[in-house]
Amino acid sequence: MPLITLQEALSQAVGERYAVGSFNVTNHDFVEAVMAAAEERNVPVIISVAEVHLRYLNLEHFIPYVKQRISHSPVPAVLHLDHGTKKETLVQALHYGFSSLMFDGSMLSLEENTRQTREIVEMAHMAGVSVEAELGHVSGGEGNFEGGSRADTSLYTDPSQAEAFVRDTGVDALAVAIGTVHGPYLDEPDLDLARLEAIRERTAVPLVLHGGSGLSDRDFREAIARGINKVNFYTDSALKAVEAVQERLRQSSALTYPDLAGAARSEIRANTLRQIELFGTKPLPGPGEE
Ligand code: 13P
Repeated sequence: MPLITLQEALSQAVGERYAVGSFNVTNHDFVEAVMAAAEERNVPVIISVAEVHLRYLNLEHFIPYVKQRISHSPVPAVLHLDHGTKKETLVQALHYGFSSLMFDGSMLSLEENTRQTREIVEMAHMAGVSVEAELGHVSGGEGNFEGGSRADTSLYTDPSQAEAFVRDTGVDALAVAIGTVHGPYLDEPDLDLARLEAIRERTAVPLVLHGGSGLSDRDFREAIARGINKVNFYTDSALKAVEAVQERLRQSSALTYPDLAGAARSEIRANTLRQIELFGTKPLPGPGEE
């Protein structure tokens, strides 16, 4: 199917209270595993490429393959840039045909985040591309597995600022800070669900939960029931893939690299499938079905 925008992927999610999974991909095995999981459930999926992961892949070579893979799939998919902090990366993503961009100005002042997000929205919308932005700040380094992080309550999203930010920027989706972190958690996650409800009441756009790895099934269900429509997920699959490779090596030493890559791929696929089921993702209605 052709690429769809983030706005299209999430068009039913707010009203029907479900979430679509956004899975970071860092190589071919991730793409194949995530697409296979979405195809098994026949639901839309968000293939996410993070700016910090550009050290693992070359956009010029990788993106044509991802687009080709999606176009041959029976499920609709978004090609999304995750945590774009540099204008240069955002422009590059537009050039390579991403259908959605996240501009991350979450460490800027409110005024500067609003101003720069509005600029990116204007540029992206002219190209028919969706924009997600972040208000407040979700701690933890994406792609950094050492140690772990704890959420900083002073950086949680303020509901009245969220209302103004969405109105003033024209973003298509808003990432909120309500107690999650990227990568491993130092403490048990403790989501501020009352804050999420307050943000939901004041904004109509889809809300995004970053740092999905490490949350319990219950955390996901409660967050989705209160207004989360996109869940970002990566670390857990990246770590479980290593465990699957180690397990395979324990079973046999007469293996080649493709055997190990296959073990990683099937683990990522099974883990992604589990998340998709938990998020309650539904197929998009066909033309004339709404
Ligand atoms: P995790 O790696 O903690 O699942 O978070 C992914 C994410 O939020 C990507 O933006």
